[in-house]
Amino acid sequence: MNIKRFILIPFLIISTIASSLTLEQIKQWDKVELHLHLGGAYPKEYLRSIATDQQMALLEQELEKIHNGVDYEEAFPIFELIGRIVNTEEKVKDGLIALCRWLEADHVIYAEIRTGLKDMGQGEEHYLQTLLEGIRDGETEWFTPRLLLSLRRFSTVEQAKRTVDLAIKYQAEGVVGIDISGISTLGNIRPLFPELLRAKAAGLGITVHLGESPNENDQLEILETLRPHRIGHAVFLTEEAKEWLKIHPIPAEMCLTSALKVKMIEKPHWHPALSHYALRDMPYSVCTDDPLIFNVTLSDEYALLYSTGVIDADKLYEVCCASQFQAFDQSFRQKPN
Ligand code: IMP
Ligand code: ZN
Repeated sequence: MNIKRFILIPFLIISTIASSLTLEQIKQWDKVELHLHLGGAYPKEYLRSIATDQQMALLEQELEKIHNGVDYEEAFPIFELIGRIVNTEEKVKDGLIALCRWLEADHVIYAEIRTGLKDMGQGEEHYLQTLLEGIRDGETEWFTPRLLLSLRRFSTVEQAKRTVDLAIKYQAEGVVGIDISGISTLGNIRPLFPELLRAKAAGLGITVHLGESPNENDQLEILETLRPHRIGHAVFLTEEAKEWLKIHPIPAEMCLTSALKVKMIEKPHWHPALSHYALRDMPYSVCTDDPLIFNVTLSDEYALLYSTGVIDADKLYEVCCASQFQAFDQSFRQKPN
């Protein structure tokens, strides 16, 4: 046998498989979703089952607007509309279970679902207990949901203290971390540092939306003081934040469609973790942020990243496997997936 052919044919077969990676193939991968806001993730079918016709029409109109691209701050009012549709604890719980089924159908095996505590009439603790019932009911042999409790940069110290107290109290029942989200230029996060450090000392994961806006002026301080376990988005990082991240490689939660739709980046391969040479070795996971609002599945996000051509199929699969180790709760890895 011709030795060149012997080497070349298997190589061609492998590279053809790799280069023709399809969405269907990606769907079969065991994936983890580390950045998803409950309020932006309810399956649309679920919302249709509980919304009035007028609410649904308004929702479709807002979704269309975002689909065509909006400025970062223009994307936020839709959450109020969704809040008016999902307006009881029972609906939140049913929506959370519907979301778990939707994620599982995309072969997501573990999801950290983040949400801010609300008082829907029976207090924040009761609301959290309802969420915990939702994730208990949403868990299967193949799928593990966990909760992150969200704060914003403008949350009061009292709010932060209540949230951290409850997160610690219900840590063994599925709360695995704290998220800082909301419009990243609104408010001052500094007074919240002691509460966030208390959560961290108690073993909770900390993730902060960082680099969503070029106008953030607290990036280095957040990184140095909190040393968060992960950062959300990581698009508009200051030079000093980038320098810090080169020495402390904290994983980024990359949400490409979200970044495109709210005009953080114009092309997917412009994401700094893919394009900026200094951050090219930055660990990252692939996430959806708000799958309802951006009309994406996690598999779609992987396919989008693959379509940039910046990484090949092997590297994409490596990113997928490595992101499992970035999860705040590792117990799902013992399941017989
Ligand atoms: P909830 O906390 O479950 O009500 O989810 C909705 C909330 O998540 C919104 O009101 C925002 O505060 C936050 N959120 C959703 N998407 C983003 C984002 O891309 N950046 C920052 N905050 C976000
Ligand atoms: Zn987010």
